[in-house]
Amino acid sequence: MDMPKVFVSRIIPDKGLDMINEVAEAEVWQDEMPPSYEVLLEKVSGVDGLVCLLTDKIDDQLMMAAGDKLKVISQMAVGFDNIDTTAASNRGIGVGHTPGVLTNTTAHIAFALLMAASRRDAEGARYVHERRWKTWGPKLLMGHDVYGATLGIVGGGRIGQAVAQRASGFAMRILCYDPFVDEAAARAFGAEATSLENLLTESDFVSLHVPLMPDTRHMIGANELKTMKSTCVLINTARGPVVDPLALYQALNDGEISYAALDVTDPEPIPSEDPLLTLDNCLIVPHIASSSIASRTKMSTMVAENLAAGLKGERLPNCANPEVYE
Ligand code: GLV
Repeated sequence: MDMPKVFVSRIIPDKGLDMINEVAEAEVWQDEMPPSYEVLLEKVSGVDGLVCLLTDKIDDQLMMAAGDKLKVISQMAVGFDNIDTTAASNRGIGVGHTPGVLTNTTAHIAFALLMAASRRDAEGARYVHERRWKTWGPKLLMGHDVYGATLGIVGGGRIGQAVAQRASGFAMRILCYDPFVDEAAARAFGAEATSLENLLTESDFVSLHVPLMPDTRHMIGANELKTMKSTCVLINTARGPVVDPLALYQALNDGEISYAALDVTDPEPIPSEDPLLTLDNCLIVPHIASSSIASRTKMSTMVAENLAAGLKGERLPNCANPEVYE
């Protein structure tokens, strides 16, 4: 019997790719850069399954271009704001994603960014590399203590809670804003539930852990940044558009907040002319929060498991659109 046909939109870790090759005839996009939308439209034509990444726009038109055989879309990421899951459900297509496995790895980067921003590590490294280090300076690169400071977690899901766990080791007071997390639920992970406004007013560090949705787009804009302390550090490991980038530039440039540390930007990659890149008080890494060898490998095997289930017409073990089974 012919194997089902699958398009894989980038080279993913070997372990997952080997599993995919056991269950499907897979064409794997070989470039470092993702296929353009137009190329993707051609590549999906007639496939039974699609393995994609957050850099691929997967909309109704693309699903239509794939044709009736498309049964499963398996994304190597926990977030899936690039996929029109409503269109997928309407077409009876299961959408897989990779939750859980990257929780601690992402919390690790969020906390690492928090620590690096608080003590100005990136500026310190530049200072040394630029051969400017002349002596021990009594006022050189003074930063802020993390120990005992207040951390505001926006979004109290898996990753937000894992960040709270790390913060408790630094005796931080932890505030949490999440409309779905009540006082008791917040207390269970050592946090105080509060309003967004109160969190922004009281926090020394604000860390974002919400999915990108219409409600969370530009959730942190000019008003929110003005509400924050002038010493506050903002950490974003969620999605770039959760923060209004122009408002962030203004706030950092005008000293309304002291620092931003970002794993995600809007757009991605950040354009070379983006004004955020001119600021010393903005540390940016290239969307690598889940990029430990263990997590990326496990994500690739989860992708293969979701794909294999979908190709067999079974329920996906990690499904982003469970309503497809209703
Ligand atoms: C990465 O951003 C992911 O959603 O997995």
